[in-house]
Amino acid sequence: MLSSDVGNDQAKGLRSLKAHRPVQVIAVTSGKGGVGKTNISVNLGVAMAGIGKHVMLLDADFGLANIDVLLGLHPAFNLSHVIKGERTLQEIIVPGPAGIRIVPASSGIRHMAELSHAEHAGLINAFNDLDVPIDVLIIDTAAGIADGVTTLTTAAQEVIVVVCDEPASITDAYATIKVLHRDRGVQRFRVIANMVSGYQEGHVLFNKLGRVTDKFLDVSLDFLGVVPYDDYLRKSIQRQKAVVDAYPRSKAALAFKNLAQQAEKWHMPTAARGHLEFFLERLIQASQAMEVPVS
Ligand SMILES: Nc1ncnc2c1ncn2[C@@H]1O[C@H](COP(=O)(O)OP(=O)(O)OP(=O)(O)O)[C@@H](O)[C@H]1O
Ligand SMILES: [Mg+2]
Repeated sequence: MLSSDVGNDQAKGLRSLKAHRPVQVIAVTSGKGGVGKTNISVNLGVAMAGIGKHVMLLDADFGLANIDVLLGLHPAFNLSHVIKGERTLQEIIVPGPAGIRIVPASSGIRHMAELSHAEHAGLINAFNDLDVPIDVLIIDTAAGIADGVTTLTTAAQEVIVVVCDEPASITDAYATIKVLHRDRGVQRFRVIANMVSGYQEGHVLFNKLGRVTDKFLDVSLDFLGVVPYDDYLRKSIQRQKAVVDAYPRSKAALAFKNLAQQAEKWHMPTAARGHLEFFLERLIQASQAMEVPVS
């Protein structure tokens, strides 16, 4: 397929989406593994659903701690089946707690740069054809700064960086911010301090990260808040449930509800630029940019 065909397909998609509302795309990243990205993605999603948002969760983590494992789901298909044209997006979506919609671990997305134009167009159409209301799309990324992770993060409007109180977490968060800023032009980052004793400790962590970014990078870093260390969160993992759902009055659940309220105040993308297919467009542009070797 010629790229002009893709353009035509995209234009058609734009027209068909006119009636849909803008979608807030939030990527959750960290650099270091095991700092709480998946738990934060799921629980922030459930908490946002709790305040009336229609939430879709894209599992873009290829590690072992996937959303489906966390929530005890057994999806038969994932986004790679959509890319291959074997399933529609609607068919692969798995219902999660509080009505959130989960797009299961998408091994195909890792190879975005290798997709043909026809596959790109197919993916865009898959999102265009999705006939369900969505206000927020949360992307749970894998650890590290591999191309796939930075591509997905670049395509989002909001980037949440999760840190915890370990030197490697701060240095890896810094490395992630540096790559996203230097190579991908991302300007603004929202920081969540996870597994801390309280707000104070979280703020100290945020300041630590802020000191290095202020010194070396021209980025804006906002402190979104904290998620305390909470045994109820661990219990909820054992029960394969979201803590916001299983223990709604626990410290962690209350923190997620607070974060959801913060996120609700974020500026919504205006009209057409915020539609889902623009996320896909940005995703494809970002992945194509990575095909060009950087000297
Ligand atoms: N607020 C918390 N309180 C207590 N334990 C937590 C908290 N957040 C995360 N954990 C623990 O950290 C583990 C890793 O969390 P999670 O799987 O969400 O991290 P991740 O960043 O997604 O990891 P990966 O990089 O492997 O994808 C959890 O299984 C849980 O045991
Ligand atoms: Mg994870």
